[in-house]
Amino acid sequence: MPETSLRDIVKEKYGEAARRVGAGGSACCGGASAIAGAKDPITSNLYGANETLGLPSAAVSASLGCGNPTALAELNEGETVLDLGSGGGIDVLLSSRRVGPLGKVYGLDMTDEMLALARENQRVAGVRNVEFLKGELENIPLPGGSVDVIISNCVVNLSADKDRALSEAFRVLRPGGRFAVSDVVVRGAVPAEVRKSVELWIGCLAGALEEKEFEAKLRKAGFGDVSITPTRIYTIEDARDFLAAAGIDAAAMAPQVEGKFMSAFVRAKKPA
Ligand SMILES: C[S@@+](CC[C@H](N)C(=O)[O-])C[C@H]1O[C@@H](n2cnc3c(N)ncnc32)[C@H](O)[C@@H]1O
Repeated sequence: MPETSLRDIVKEKYGEAARRVGAGGSACCGGASAIAGAKDPITSNLYGANETLGLPSAAVSASLGCGNPTALAELNEGETVLDLGSGGGIDVLLSSRRVGPLGKVYGLDMTDEMLALARENQRVAGVRNVEFLKGELENIPLPGGSVDVIISNCVVNLSADKDRALSEAFRVLRPGGRFAVSDVVVRGAVPAEVRKSVELWIGCLAGALEEKEFEAKLRKAGFGDVSITPTRIYTIEDARDFLAAAGIDAAAMAPQVEGKFMSAFVRAKKPA
């Protein structure tokens, strides 16, 4: 699919999700979360109740991530953090507590409705050390070497040009800066048809990277100290109801799915 049409589809989909939250509903990005009454094993229970305490409820209900990068990244007071694809702003608001008044957190998103929702959440939270920027992962509107830590929650898989997104992340980090990102990744080879069905279930459009491919792309962009740690590994049971509703034989697919799709925490460093 051409890059521009993929971007338009992603904007449309997340624009709708933001409007649903604005109308008092939940974000629901399709896939498993679209099945009535079904629990979504990817986006649910990512944050502890003590973490979300005091956050605007719309920031919590807009959460569409697949991990908790702020809990896993070691953020220090005074640091500058950039959240790629910040959505309703939950990870930006959580990071802003960690870096304190001397730090700064940027949220970057290309979808107008998500930016409006995030800015409203910032206003309700009364947080000052935060700024939401309109822009794309592939063309980050910040100067080189201006960020200490890049976080992101389930967005790299949506990028139509992942090499470009990762080299932009590398550019804006200062030397010694950290890349600390949650995303869905695939382990090993998976037939295209199976991948398509599972991605339909996950609700992500552009495609998760295979873990070795992700590591190779990070190294190609210039990063060192690359590691990928699974945080949730999905089983065919997680996807069974969704696949059955879509007329897909889950049992036949099981051997090619088990243990191959996971949410993971991806770490890398820009050499000092
Ligand atoms: C899966 S949601 C995750 C939102 C947020 N990180 C969270 O955890 O709730 C993806 C978000 O990334 C944004 N996005 C997707 N691709 C993008 C790109 N190439 N550049 C900028 N934003 C993008 C979408 O607009 C959407 O708000």
